[in-house]
Amino acid sequence: MNRMMTMCGVAALLAVGVTAYPTGAPSSVCDDPFMEPTYHRDYLNATGYNNTNQYTLRSSPAEGRPGIVEVTLTGAPFKGFVVRASTPGENNEGEFIVDEDSQFHALHCSSNENAAVTHSSPEFKSSVKLLWRDNNSGNHVFQATVVPTIETYVINIFES
Ligand SMILES: *[C@@H]1O[C@H](CO)[C@@H](O)[C@H](O)[C@H]1NC(C)=O
Ligand SMILES: *[C@@H]1O[C@H](CO)[C@@H](O)[C@H](O)[C@H]1NC(C)=O
Ligand SMILES: *[C@@H]1O[C@H](CO)[C@@H](O)[C@H](O)[C@H]1NC(C)=O
Repeated sequence: MNRMMTMCGVAALLAVGVTAYPTGAPSSVCDDPFMEPTYHRDYLNATGYNNTNQYTLRSSPAEGRPGIVEVTLTGAPFKGFVVRASTPGENNEGEFIVDEDSQFHALHCSSNENAAVTHSSPEFKSSVKLLWRDNNSGNHVFQATVVPTIETYVINIFES
């Protein structure tokens, strides 16, 4: 019985392993200062890189929408991503605006609703456009992690 259950567990793990997180990262990722995809690192032997200039993160005020910031992530085709905003002191801040048809959905970090977003499907994309609401007009930094393929991930993507 135990043996059977163990085998089922292993099979389940392998099944998950093959597809990783096709429908987005778990919310625990956005409470990690480096937003490292630990599952990929620990179970898929993925190699992590710091961003040099493979990926670009930019933000600007959304035209005609006070308090709303447009954020874009671009670069070589990638499957997965996470973007969040935090104060320089590392508290997640503000909230992303996600509609039902989006290619991404919100993550709830440290019980902050919509504090980050992640992909909803594993199709390759080379740019993502997001809207974020600044709740207190404070200092904030955007940060992204990208998973180009299952073998690699790129962390510490900041605005340049
Ligand atoms: C993990 O990846 C490294 C670097 O790509 C490789 O040298 C190593 O053989 C891999 N280990 C396993 C267990 O697949
Ligand atoms: C990223 O850079 C930091 C600081 O230089 C370093 O400590 C860390 O090991 C690097 N991480 C990766 C995945 O290369
Ligand atoms: C941000 O402001 C909106 C609108 O006032 C509010 O509903 C939301 O809870 C706030 N979010 C955070 C993270 O403070």
